[in-house]
Amino acid sequence: MTASYDLIVIGTGPGGYVCAIRAAQLGLKVAVVEKRGTHGGTCLNVGCIPSKALLHASHAYDEAKHAFGAMGIDASPVLDLPKMQAFKREGVKGNVEGVAYLLKKNKVQTYFGTGRIVKSGQVAVTSPGGETETLEAKSIVIATGSDVTRLPGIEIDEKRVVSSTGALELASVPRKLLVIGAGVIGLELGSVWRRLGADVLVVEYLDRILPGIDKEVARAFQRLLDKQGIAFRLASKVTGVTGPETPGKPLSVQIEPAAGGATETVEADVVLVAVGRVPYTDGLGLAEAGVALDAKKRILTDGHFQTSASGIFAIGDVIAGPMLAHKAEDEGVAVAEIIAGQAGHVNYDVIPNVIYTSPEVASVGKSEEELKAAGIAYNVGKFPFTANGRAKSIRMTDGFVKILADAATDRVLGVHIIGANAGELIAEACVLMEFGGSAEDLARTCHAHPTLSESVKEAALAVGKRAIHF
Ligand code: FAD
Ligand code: NAI
Repeated sequence: MTASYDLIVIGTGPGGYVCAIRAAQLGLKVAVVEKRGTHGGTCLNVGCIPSKALLHASHAYDEAKHAFGAMGIDASPVLDLPKMQAFKREGVKGNVEGVAYLLKKNKVQTYFGTGRIVKSGQVAVTSPGGETETLEAKSIVIATGSDVTRLPGIEIDEKRVVSSTGALELASVPRKLLVIGAGVIGLELGSVWRRLGADVLVVEYLDRILPGIDKEVARAFQRLLDKQGIAFRLASKVTGVTGPETPGKPLSVQIEPAAGGATETVEADVVLVAVGRVPYTDGLGLAEAGVALDAKKRILTDGHFQTSASGIFAIGDVIAGPMLAHKAEDEGVAVAEIIAGQAGHVNYDVIPNVIYTSPEVASVGKSEEELKAAGIAYNVGKFPFTANGRAKSIRMTDGFVKILADAATDRVLGVHIIGANAGELIAEACVLMEFGGSAEDLARTCHAHPTLSESVKEAALAVGKRAIHF
C-alpha cells in the first residue's frame, strides 16, 4: 500500500527539518526525504557547524599563542590537527543526532534516499540500495538547499583544489593557501588556516571585500585582516590552476587584473574556491512537475512559498534571498503554518548576517549605501570599542557599532557591528527593529555594566549626538 502523508519535505537542512517539526506540532502527518546519510543539511554537516567548531578551536590556539602572555599566562600551544578535526566531528555528530532525535520525537517519518517529484501529490524515493518507493502527500515542500559555484576550467578535487567542504577537512596545514573570493566562506576559512599557520592570499574579483556589507565596515574589517597577515589581491581574477595532478609539487595559480592585463603566476599548496553557492535542484523532476525556475536557477515562489505547481512549496537556499540557515529556518516555520491554514510570515527586513571571524562582523537591515541608493535621509550614530570599559579591560578594542536611523522618524533602519561577540550583540538590534523601535528607544534602555553591549546603547545615544563615553 502507498504511504500517504499530509506533508512530505524533501531535504532535512535547517529549512526542511524545522518545517517538518513545525508541521508535526500543528497536527500534520509528516515525512521527510533526505539523500545524505544524516539530517541537518549543508549547515550541520559541512557548513555552519563544522566551520564554527574550527573557527573556535583555531581562535583558542591563536589566543594561547598571542594573547595569553599579556594576561600573565605562559602557554606554548602545540597544534594537534587530527584532534582539532575530531573536536569538529564530535560537534557535528552531536548536532545531527540531535535533529534525528527531534524528528523522531515529533513523529516525523524519515526516508533516507533521493526524492524526485513525480507530480503534485507524489514523491518517488530511491534508496541508496536503488529501490524506488512512491509516496503520496497533500503538500510537498522542496528544501534541497544549495551547492558550490564552480569556476570554468578549475576542477575541484577536494584535496588540493577545494570547496568549503574540502577546506574543512584538510589533514595538514597548507604552507600557502590561495582563496578565490573574499566573501564569507573565504574570510572565515581563510582565518582558520591563517591562525593555524598558513600564508593566506585572497583573490577577489571586485575592488572590495564582502560585497553587500556596509562599505565602511568592510574597509575597517579588511584593515584588521591585513594586520592578522591575510593578504588581498582585489580587482583580480584567477584564470587557471595547474598542477593538482602532480603530488608533492606546489600548484601554479594564474591571476589577472579583473579588467584584463598581464598574468601573474603564484604558487599555492591548496586553492579554496569560494565564489558563492547555487540552488540545488538536480534530479528533482521539476520541469516535469511544472515547477518554474528564475534566471539564476532558483525556484520561483510567490509571497507564500507556493511554486508554479499546485501543492508544491519551496524554502531556504533553493529560493531567492540570503543563503543563511536562520532564513531557511524561519521560512520552514512560515510555510508549515501556511500549509496548516495559519498565516506564516517572514520579515525579510530583519535578517541578521554574521561573519564569525575575529573580530566578528554582524549586521541587520540597511547599509549606508542602500539607504543612499533608496534616497532615504538618515542619521548615523557610531561608537568605538576603544571607548568601552569592558572591551578596554579585556583588550578587545577592535571595531565599532554603527546605527543608522531614519532622519524623520528616528526608526532604526540598520545596525552594523564589527568587534568581539558582534554576532551575539546584533540580536538586540533585531528585536528592536522587529518592533519598529527607534534609536531613542535603544538609547533609553538600561544596559548592564561592564558589557560590550553598552557600545550598542552608546551608538544609539550618538545618533542624537549625546554619547557619554566618546
Ligand atoms: P541545506 O542545508 O543545503 O539542506 C538541503 C538538504 O537537502 C541536504 O541535506 C541535501 O542532502 C538534501 N537534498 C538535496 N536534494 C535532495 C533530493 N533530491 N532528495 C533528498 N534530499 C535532497 N549559514 C548561516 O546562517 N550561518 C553560518 O554560519 C553559515 N556557515 C556556513 C558555512 C559554510 C562552509 C557553508 C557552505 C554554508 C554556511 N551557511 C551558513 C549557509 C547555510 O549552510 C545554508 O544557508 C543552509 O544550510 C540552507 O539550508 P537549507 O535547508 O535551505 O538547505
Ligand atoms: P559570497 O557570495 O559570500 O562571496 C563570494 C565572493 O566571491 C564575492 O566577494 C564575489 O565578488 C567573489 N567572486 C565571485 N566570482 C569570483 C571570481 N571569479 N574570482 C574572484 N572572486 C570572485 O559566497 P561564499 O563565500 O562562497 O559563501 C556562499 C554563501 O554561504 C554566502 O553567501 C552565505 O550566504 C553562506 N555562508 C554564510 C556564512 C555565515 O553566515 N557566517 C558562512 C559561510 C557561508
